[in-house]
Amino acid sequence: MRMVLVGCSGFVGRSLVTLLLNRGHQLTLVSRSAQPLPALQHPQLTRLQANPADPSSWSQPALLEALAAAEAVVNLAGEPIAEKRWTPAHLQLLQDSRIGTTRALVQAMAALPAGQGPGVLINGSAIGYYGTSASQSFTEASPAGADVLGRLCQAWEAEAQAAAGRCRVVILRIGIVLGGDGGALGKMLPVFRLGFGGPIGDGQQWMSWISRHDLCQLIAQALEDPAYAGTYNAVAPEPCSMAQFAAALGRCLGRPSLLPVPGPLLQLLLGDGAKVVLEGQRVLPERLQQQGFAFRDGQLSAALAAATS
Ligand SMILES: NC(=O)c1ccc[n+]([C@@H]2O[C@H](COP(=O)([O-])OP(=O)(O)OC[C@H]3O[C@@H](n4cnc5c(N)ncnc54)[C@H](OP(=O)(O)O)[C@@H]3O)[C@@H](O)[C@H]2O)c1
Repeated sequence: MRMVLVGCSGFVGRSLVTLLLNRGHQLTLVSRSAQPLPALQHPQLTRLQANPADPSSWSQPALLEALAAAEAVVNLAGEPIAEKRWTPAHLQLLQDSRIGTTRALVQAMAALPAGQGPGVLINGSAIGYYGTSASQSFTEASPAGADVLGRLCQAWEAEAQAAAGRCRVVILRIGIVLGGDGGALGKMLPVFRLGFGGPIGDGQQWMSWISRHDLCQLIAQALEDPAYAGTYNAVAPEPCSMAQFAAALGRCLGRPSLLPVPGPLLQLLLGDGAKVVLEGQRVLPERLQQQGFAFRDGQLSAALAAATS
Protein backbone atom coordinates (compact mmCIF):
# COMPACT_ATOMS: atom_id res chain seq x y z
CA MET A 1 0.00 0.00 0.00
CA ARG A 2 1.01 3.63 -0.47
CA MET A 3 0.90 5.32 2.93
CA VAL A 4 1.33 8.78 4.44
CA LEU A 5 2.82 8.67 7.94
CA VAL A 6 2.50 11.61 10.34
CA GLY A 7 4.16 11.69 13.77
CA CYS A 8 6.02 8.50 12.90
CA SER A 9 9.59 9.70 13.38
CA GLY A 10 9.68 9.05 17.14
CA PHE A 11 9.92 6.15 19.56
CA VAL A 12 6.98 4.18 18.12
CA GLY A 13 7.32 5.49 14.58
CA ARG A 14 10.90 4.38 14.00
CA SER A 15 9.96 0.74 14.63
CA LEU A 16 6.74 1.08 12.68
CA VAL A 17 8.48 2.51 9.61
CA THR A 18 10.94 -0.40 9.55
CA LEU A 19 8.13 -2.93 9.93
CA LEU A 20 6.00 -1.36 7.19
CA LEU A 21 8.97 -1.18 4.80
CA ASN A 22 9.70 -4.85 5.49
CA ARG A 23 6.10 -5.64 4.60
CA GLY A 24 6.60 -3.99 1.22
CA HIS A 25 4.64 -0.78 1.72
CA GLN A 26 5.56 2.50 0.08
CA LEU A 27 5.83 5.30 2.64
CA THR A 28 5.78 9.09 2.70
CA LEU A 29 7.02 10.24 6.09
CA VAL A 30 5.80 13.73 7.01
CA SER A 31 7.95 15.44 9.62
CA ARG A 32 8.79 18.89 10.91
CA SER A 33 12.46 18.02 10.51
CA ALA A 34 14.23 17.81 7.17
CA GLN A 35 15.86 14.44 7.81
CA PRO A 36 13.74 12.36 10.19
CA LEU A 37 15.08 8.85 10.84
CA PRO A 38 18.39 9.65 9.10
CA ALA A 39 19.78 6.14 9.55
CA LEU A 40 16.93 4.67 7.52
CA GLN A 41 17.60 4.81 3.79
CA HIS A 42 15.21 2.82 1.64
CA PRO A 43 13.95 3.22 -1.92
CA GLN A 44 10.32 2.87 -0.74
CA LEU A 45 10.68 5.71 1.83
CA THR A 46 10.10 9.37 0.86
CA ARG A 47 10.48 12.24 3.36
CA LEU A 48 8.39 15.41 3.28
CA GLN A 49 9.11 18.37 5.54
CA ALA A 50 5.99 20.07 6.92
CA ASN A 51 4.43 20.99 10.24
CA PRO A 52 1.33 18.78 10.22
CA ALA A 53 -0.35 20.89 12.92
CA ASP A 54 -0.37 23.90 10.58
CA PRO A 55 -3.39 23.64 8.25
CA SER A 56 -1.62 25.64 5.53
CA SER A 57 1.10 22.99 5.19
CA TRP A 58 -1.51 20.58 3.84
CA SER A 59 -1.84 22.73 0.73
CA GLN A 60 1.81 22.10 -0.22
CA PRO A 61 1.59 20.42 -3.64
CA ALA A 62 3.90 17.55 -2.70
CA LEU A 63 1.90 16.75 0.43
CA LEU A 64 -1.47 17.04 -1.30
CA GLU A 65 -0.23 14.76 -4.05
CA ALA A 66 1.03 12.18 -1.56
CA LEU A 67 -2.27 12.29 0.35
CA ALA A 68 -4.36 11.98 -2.81
CA ALA A 69 -2.32 8.96 -3.92
CA ALA A 70 -2.25 7.28 -0.50
CA GLU A 71 -4.30 4.24 0.35
CA ALA A 72 -3.68 4.67 4.07
CA VAL A 73 -2.64 7.25 6.67
CA VAL A 74 -1.14 6.73 10.11
CA ASN A 75 -1.19 9.72 12.46
CA LEU A 76 0.67 9.42 15.76
CA ALA A 77 1.69 13.08 16.09
CA GLY A 78 1.88 14.54 19.57
CA GLU A 79 4.24 16.62 21.69
CA PRO A 80 5.61 14.37 24.50
CA ILE A 81 3.21 14.36 27.47
CA ALA A 82 5.34 13.76 30.56
CA GLU A 83 8.62 15.50 29.82
CA LYS A 84 7.96 19.14 30.73
CA ARG A 85 5.97 21.09 33.28
CA TRP A 86 2.38 21.57 32.23
CA THR A 87 2.39 25.36 31.99
CA PRO A 88 -0.62 26.84 30.14
CA ALA A 89 1.59 27.32 27.04
CA HIS A 90 2.80 23.71 27.18
CA LEU A 91 -0.72 22.39 27.64
CA GLN A 92 -1.72 24.32 24.56
CA LEU A 93 1.12 22.65 22.64
CA LEU A 94 0.07 19.19 23.91
CA GLN A 95 -3.40 19.88 22.52
CA ASP A 96 -2.49 21.62 19.26
CA SER A 97 0.01 18.92 18.29
CA ARG A 98 -2.70 16.27 18.61
CA ILE A 99 -6.10 17.87 18.08
CA GLY A 100 -4.80 20.50 15.62
CA THR A 101 -2.76 18.00 13.58
CA THR A 102 -5.62 15.54 13.35
CA ARG A 103 -8.09 18.27 12.38
CA ALA A 104 -5.76 19.64 9.67
CA LEU A 105 -5.13 16.14 8.31
CA VAL A 106 -8.81 15.16 8.21
CA GLN A 107 -9.78 18.47 6.61
CA ALA A 108 -7.12 17.95 3.93
CA MET A 109 -8.51 14.46 3.29
CA ALA A 110 -12.05 15.86 3.06
CA ALA A 111 -10.96 18.46 0.51
CA LEU A 112 -9.63 15.84 -1.93
CA PRO A 113 -11.73 15.13 -5.01
CA ALA A 114 -14.24 12.30 -4.53
CA GLY A 115 -12.70 8.91 -5.12
CA GLN A 116 -9.20 10.07 -4.17
CA GLY A 117 -7.40 9.71 -0.88
CA PRO A 118 -6.83 7.08 1.75
CA GLY A 119 -9.25 4.26 2.51
CA VAL A 120 -8.09 3.93 6.10
CA LEU A 121 -6.88 6.29 8.85
CA ILE A 122 -5.10 4.87 11.89
CA ASN A 123 -5.03 7.56 14.56
CA GLY A 124 -3.34 7.66 17.92
CA SER A 125 -5.05 8.26 21.22
CA ALA A 126 -4.07 7.19 24.73
CA ILE A 127 -5.42 5.31 27.73
CA GLY A 128 -5.42 8.67 29.49
CA TYR A 129 -8.84 8.86 27.77
CA TYR A 130 -10.35 7.09 30.81
CA GLY A 131 -8.87 9.30 33.52
CA THR A 132 -7.14 7.56 36.42
CA SER A 133 -8.46 5.11 38.99
CA ALA A 134 -6.99 2.74 41.56
CA SER A 135 -10.02 0.43 41.59
CA GLN A 136 -11.90 0.55 38.28
CA SER A 137 -11.17 -1.40 35.09
CA PHE A 138 -11.75 0.17 31.70
CA THR A 139 -12.82 -1.34 28.38
CA GLU A 140 -13.50 0.48 25.14
CA ALA A 141 -17.10 0.96 26.30
CA SER A 142 -16.08 2.93 29.40
CA PRO A 143 -16.71 6.67 29.40
CA ALA A 144 -14.02 9.34 29.09
CA GLY A 145 -12.47 10.83 32.21
CA ALA A 146 -13.12 14.44 33.14
CA ASP A 147 -9.46 15.34 33.81
CA VAL A 148 -7.09 17.17 31.44
CA LEU A 149 -5.94 14.08 29.54
CA GLY A 150 -9.43 12.59 29.42
CA ARG A 151 -10.74 15.74 27.77
CA LEU A 152 -7.72 16.01 25.48
CA CYS A 153 -8.07 12.41 24.24
CA GLN A 154 -11.81 12.82 23.71
CA ALA A 155 -11.30 15.90 21.54
CA TRP A 156 -8.38 14.21 19.70
CA GLU A 157 -10.53 11.17 18.88
CA ALA A 158 -13.46 13.32 17.78
CA GLU A 159 -11.25 14.95 15.13
CA ALA A 160 -10.24 11.52 13.81
CA GLN A 161 -13.84 10.24 13.87
CA ALA A 162 -14.78 13.11 11.56
CA ALA A 163 -13.11 11.10 8.77
CA ALA A 164 -15.40 8.11 9.37
CA GLY A 165 -17.84 9.00 6.57
CA ARG A 166 -14.97 9.03 4.13
CA CYS A 167 -12.79 6.10 5.12
CA ARG A 168 -12.27 3.33 7.66
CA VAL A 169 -11.10 4.89 10.92
CA VAL A 170 -9.16 2.98 13.58
CA ILE A 171 -8.38 4.78 16.83
CA LEU A 172 -5.82 3.24 19.16
CA ARG A 173 -5.94 4.16 22.85
CA ILE A 174 -2.29 3.39 23.41
CA GLY A 175 -0.97 2.22 26.78
CA ILE A 176 2.57 2.66 28.15
CA VAL A 177 4.74 1.49 25.26
CA LEU A 178 7.66 -0.72 26.25
CA GLY A 179 10.85 -0.51 24.22
CA GLY A 180 14.45 -0.38 25.42
CA ASP A 181 15.46 2.83 23.67
CA GLY A 182 12.77 5.30 24.69
CA GLY A 183 9.47 5.89 26.42
CA ALA A 184 8.98 5.18 30.12
CA LEU A 185 11.11 2.02 30.15
CA GLY A 186 13.97 3.75 28.35
CA LYS A 187 14.07 6.29 31.19
CA MET A 188 13.90 3.67 33.94
CA LEU A 189 16.51 1.30 32.50
CA PRO A 190 19.74 3.22 33.23
CA VAL A 191 18.77 3.67 36.89
CA PHE A 192 17.76 0.01 37.27
CA ARG A 193 20.94 -1.16 35.53
CA LEU A 194 22.94 0.73 38.14
CA GLY A 195 20.99 -1.09 40.85
CA PHE A 196 19.18 2.03 42.09
CA GLY A 197 15.81 1.33 40.51
CA GLY A 198 12.50 1.14 42.27
CA PRO A 199 8.83 1.91 41.89
CA ILE A 200 7.80 5.48 41.26
CA GLY A 201 5.44 6.95 43.85
CA ASP A 202 3.63 4.55 46.19
CA GLY A 203 3.75 1.68 43.65
CA GLN A 204 0.02 1.02 43.85
CA GLN A 205 -0.90 2.82 40.62
CA TRP A 206 -1.90 0.71 37.61
CA MET A 207 0.29 0.40 34.55
CA SER A 208 -1.43 -0.72 31.38
CA TRP A 209 1.38 -1.42 28.96
CA ILE A 210 2.04 -2.83 25.48
CA SER A 211 5.32 -3.85 23.91
CA ARG A 212 6.40 -1.66 21.02
CA HIS A 213 6.69 -4.81 18.91
CA ASP A 214 3.02 -5.69 19.49
CA LEU A 215 1.84 -2.11 18.98
CA CYS A 216 3.58 -1.91 15.61
CA GLN A 217 2.22 -5.32 14.58
CA LEU A 218 -1.24 -4.13 15.57
CA ILE A 219 -0.93 -0.97 13.46
CA ALA A 220 0.27 -3.02 10.48
CA GLN A 221 -2.63 -5.46 10.86
CA ALA A 222 -5.17 -2.69 11.28
CA LEU A 223 -3.87 -1.10 8.09
CA GLU A 224 -4.09 -4.29 6.07
CA ASP A 225 -7.19 -5.98 7.51
CA PRO A 226 -10.54 -4.24 6.88
CA ALA A 227 -12.03 -6.09 9.86
CA TYR A 228 -10.37 -3.48 12.10
CA ALA A 229 -12.61 -0.45 12.57
CA GLY A 230 -13.44 1.86 15.45
CA THR A 231 -11.70 2.25 18.79
CA TYR A 232 -9.32 -0.24 20.42
CA ASN A 233 -7.42 -0.28 23.67
CA ALA A 234 -3.85 -0.91 22.52
CA VAL A 235 -2.68 -2.61 25.72
CA ALA A 236 -1.53 -6.12 26.64
CA PRO A 237 -4.04 -8.32 28.49
CA GLU A 238 -2.18 -8.18 31.84
CA PRO A 239 -1.95 -4.71 33.35
CA CYS A 240 0.10 -4.57 36.54
CA SER A 241 0.85 -2.25 39.43
CA MET A 242 3.91 0.00 39.37
CA ALA A 243 5.38 -2.10 42.22
CA GLN A 244 4.90 -5.31 40.18
CA PHE A 245 6.41 -3.63 37.15
CA ALA A 246 9.49 -2.47 39.08
CA ALA A 247 9.94 -5.92 40.63
CA ALA A 248 9.66 -7.62 37.22
CA LEU A 249 12.17 -5.20 35.71
CA GLY A 250 14.59 -5.81 38.59
CA ARG A 251 14.26 -9.60 38.07
CA CYS A 252 14.72 -9.25 34.32
CA LEU A 253 17.97 -7.29 34.79
CA GLY A 254 19.19 -9.29 37.79
CA ARG A 255 19.19 -6.10 39.88
CA PRO A 256 17.23 -5.23 42.98
CA SER A 257 14.10 -3.11 42.89
CA LEU A 258 14.55 -1.14 46.05
CA LEU A 259 14.20 2.57 46.38
CA PRO A 260 10.88 4.12 45.57
CA VAL A 261 11.23 7.35 43.61
CA PRO A 262 9.34 9.89 45.71
CA GLY A 263 6.18 11.33 44.13
CA PRO A 264 6.73 14.88 45.45
CA LEU A 265 10.08 15.05 43.61
CA LEU A 266 8.36 14.26 40.33
CA GLN A 267 5.64 16.76 41.09
CA LEU A 268 8.34 19.39 41.53
CA LEU A 269 9.85 18.50 38.15
CA LEU A 270 6.73 17.92 36.10
CA GLY A 271 3.97 19.82 37.88
CA ASP A 272 0.56 18.38 36.97
CA GLY A 273 2.29 16.18 34.38
CA ALA A 274 3.56 13.98 37.24
CA LYS A 275 0.02 12.61 37.43
CA VAL A 276 0.71 10.58 34.28
CA VAL A 277 3.32 8.60 36.19
CA LEU A 278 1.96 8.71 39.74
CA GLU A 279 -1.61 7.70 38.90
CA GLY A 280 -2.71 5.10 36.41
CA GLN A 281 -5.60 3.13 35.05
CA ARG A 282 -6.36 -0.57 34.57
CA VAL A 283 -7.25 -0.89 30.89
CA LEU A 284 -8.22 -4.13 29.14
CA PRO A 285 -7.92 -4.94 25.41
CA GLU A 286 -11.44 -6.32 25.13
CA ARG A 287 -11.93 -5.57 21.43
CA LEU A 288 -8.48 -6.83 20.41
CA GLN A 289 -9.17 -10.09 22.19
CA GLN A 290 -12.59 -10.42 20.55
CA GLN A 291 -10.87 -9.85 17.22
CA GLY A 292 -8.28 -12.53 18.01
CA PHE A 293 -5.21 -10.28 17.94
CA ALA A 294 -2.22 -12.45 18.87
CA PHE A 295 0.08 -10.69 21.33
CA ARG A 296 3.67 -11.92 21.08
CA ASP A 297 4.45 -10.16 24.37
CA GLY A 298 1.28 -10.85 26.32
CA GLN A 299 3.21 -11.28 29.54
CA LEU A 300 5.26 -8.59 31.21
CA SER A 301 8.32 -10.82 31.69
CA ALA A 302 8.38 -11.56 27.94
CA ALA A 303 7.93 -7.92 27.03
CA LEU A 304 10.71 -6.80 29.37
CA ALA A 305 13.05 -9.55 28.20
CA ALA A 306 12.50 -8.58 24.55
CA ALA A 307 12.88 -4.86 25.27
CA THR A 308 16.10 -5.22 27.26
CA SER A 309 17.88 -7.91 25.21
N1 LIG B 1 5.16 6.09 24.04
C1 LIG B 1 4.13 5.84 24.84
O1 LIG B 1 4.25 5.19 25.90
C2 LIG B 1 2.75 6.34 24.46
C3 LIG B 1 1.67 6.03 25.30
C4 LIG B 1 0.39 6.47 24.96
C5 LIG B 1 0.21 7.23 23.81
N2 LIG B 1 1.28 7.53 23.03
C6 LIG B 1 1.04 8.38 21.84
O2 LIG B 1 1.54 7.76 20.69
C7 LIG B 1 2.10 8.75 19.80
C8 LIG B 1 3.52 8.34 19.43
O3 LIG B 1 4.26 8.18 20.63
P1 LIG B 1 5.87 8.17 20.65
O4 LIG B 1 6.27 7.59 21.95
O5 LIG B 1 6.40 7.59 19.37
O6 LIG B 1 6.14 9.75 20.68
P2 LIG B 1 7.45 10.57 20.25
O7 LIG B 1 8.66 9.71 20.19
O8 LIG B 1 7.50 11.77 21.13
O9 LIG B 1 7.08 11.01 18.76
C9 LIG B 1 6.00 11.85 18.55
C10 LIG B 1 5.85 12.24 17.11
O10 LIG B 1 4.97 13.37 17.07
C11 LIG B 1 5.52 14.42 16.35
N3 LIG B 1 5.44 15.64 17.18
C12 LIG B 1 6.05 15.87 18.38
N4 LIG B 1 5.77 17.11 18.81
C13 LIG B 1 4.98 17.67 17.85
C14 LIG B 1 4.40 18.96 17.69
N5 LIG B 1 4.57 19.91 18.63
N6 LIG B 1 3.65 19.20 16.58
C15 LIG B 1 3.48 18.24 15.66
N7 LIG B 1 4.05 17.02 15.71
C16 LIG B 1 4.79 16.74 16.81
C17 LIG B 1 6.98 14.09 16.05
O11 LIG B 1 7.14 14.24 14.66
P3 LIG B 1 8.25 15.17 13.95
O12 LIG B 1 9.21 15.62 15.02
O13 LIG B 1 8.86 14.26 12.94
O14 LIG B 1 7.49 16.29 13.33
C18 LIG B 1 7.14 12.63 16.45
O15 LIG B 1 7.29 11.81 15.32
C19 LIG B 1 2.00 10.09 20.55
O16 LIG B 1 0.89 10.79 20.08
C20 LIG B 1 1.80 9.70 22.00
O17 LIG B 1 1.03 10.64 22.71
C21 LIG B 1 2.53 7.11 23.31
